[in-house]
Amino acid sequence: MKAAITGCAGFIGSHLAERILAHGGSVVGIDNLLTGRSENVRHLLDYPEFASITEDIAIPSNIVALVGEHIERIDTVFHLASPASPNDYARYPLQTLVANSRGTEHAIYLANRFHARLILASTSEVYGDPLEHPQTEEYWGNVNPVGPRSCYDEGKRYAEALVAAAHRVGLVDAAIVRIFNTYGPRMRIDDGRVVPSFIGRALRGEPLTLYGGGEQTRSFMYVDDLIDALVRVATIPLAGDFHVLNLGSTVETSIRALATVVASVAGVRLQVEDGPLPTDDPTRRCPDISRAQMLLDWQPQIGILEGLRRTIDYFRGELYGGQAAAS
Ligand SMILES: NC(=O)c1ccc[n+]([C@@H]2O[C@H](COP(=O)([O-])OP(=O)(O)OC[C@H]3O[C@@H](n4cnc5c(N)ncnc54)[C@H](O)[C@@H]3O)[C@@H](O)[C@H]2O)c1
Repeated sequence: MKAAITGCAGFIGSHLAERILAHGGSVVGIDNLLTGRSENVRHLLDYPEFASITEDIAIPSNIVALVGEHIERIDTVFHLASPASPNDYARYPLQTLVANSRGTEHAIYLANRFHARLILASTSEVYGDPLEHPQTEEYWGNVNPVGPRSCYDEGKRYAEALVAAAHRVGLVDAAIVRIFNTYGPRMRIDDGRVVPSFIGRALRGEPLTLYGGGEQTRSFMYVDDLIDALVRVATIPLAGDFHVLNLGSTVETSIRALATVVASVAGVRLQVEDGPLPTDDPTRRCPDISRAQMLLDWQPQIGILEGLRRTIDYFRGELYGGQAAAS
């Protein structure tokens, strides 16, 4: 595969680049390092088939020329660039909207000029606080358009509309993946997402905060499973069809149960404290992945115990030295 990845220095982008390179492909990464880290891709610079461009995907009008300096042909553009954690998009609301609007325009343009397939990383947040369970791709969502999370939810909904329209008028061959909570090494311990935050607190001997009692549910997918699915979306024949696919684990876990498992895998005594539920925080989240199972012949393989073990090993290294770029 010959891919351009926007958001390549982030958590998911760096794992995706690593997988493509390990299978003999080529990658040009584009990242402005807003929420990503150059350390995430430093080990990839050993590959001659890897190039990294430090640019804002929403800014350069010459993105095609910039990418073309490093690679002649691209078959896939993965558009991942966007702040993704509640802390990040609360801190960068305008940048989030721009990465998903102007940034998506540029990703479409890039894919068009290289005759490449465009894969848009969307999110389960397009379903907002869902009124249907599990969420199928047909569900239109329950989103507050002006709430504190709207820069992300509505930014992604606009990005989806843009990609759908570009596909409809024949500008790109495209697919949209709606990613549900994914975790693993190279997340930032302070990014505010529940898995790294629980792990960080457990390893430091601090109490884990259960917002709103911790009865709300999420489904957690280990990053390697997501990467398997992304590579399949890039390589299966789509025959010109346009697909929107949920990608996630179907095992619904309460936040309270997650706290117990994190403490147990980290080998520490569980301590919890209560906190107020954030505004517009969804109470239940679980995907219906039948479409991805059928189309991609895929489903997550790595259970929460194994996934947490690998992730906790990584964060131990981050906090106390040692292995810094585990996979
Ligand atoms: N991790 C998850 O659970 C999850 C769930 C749903 C959707 N997603 C989506 O997957 C994508 C990657 O998420 P992640 O978890 O790796 O987050 P991340 O913050 O680790 O990675 C995002 C990357 O995009 C870069 N970026 C942001 N704005 C940019 C811009 N304008 N130009 C160039 N680079 C820019 C950041 O610097 C960062 O490296 C995002 O689009 C996110 O919405 C992630």
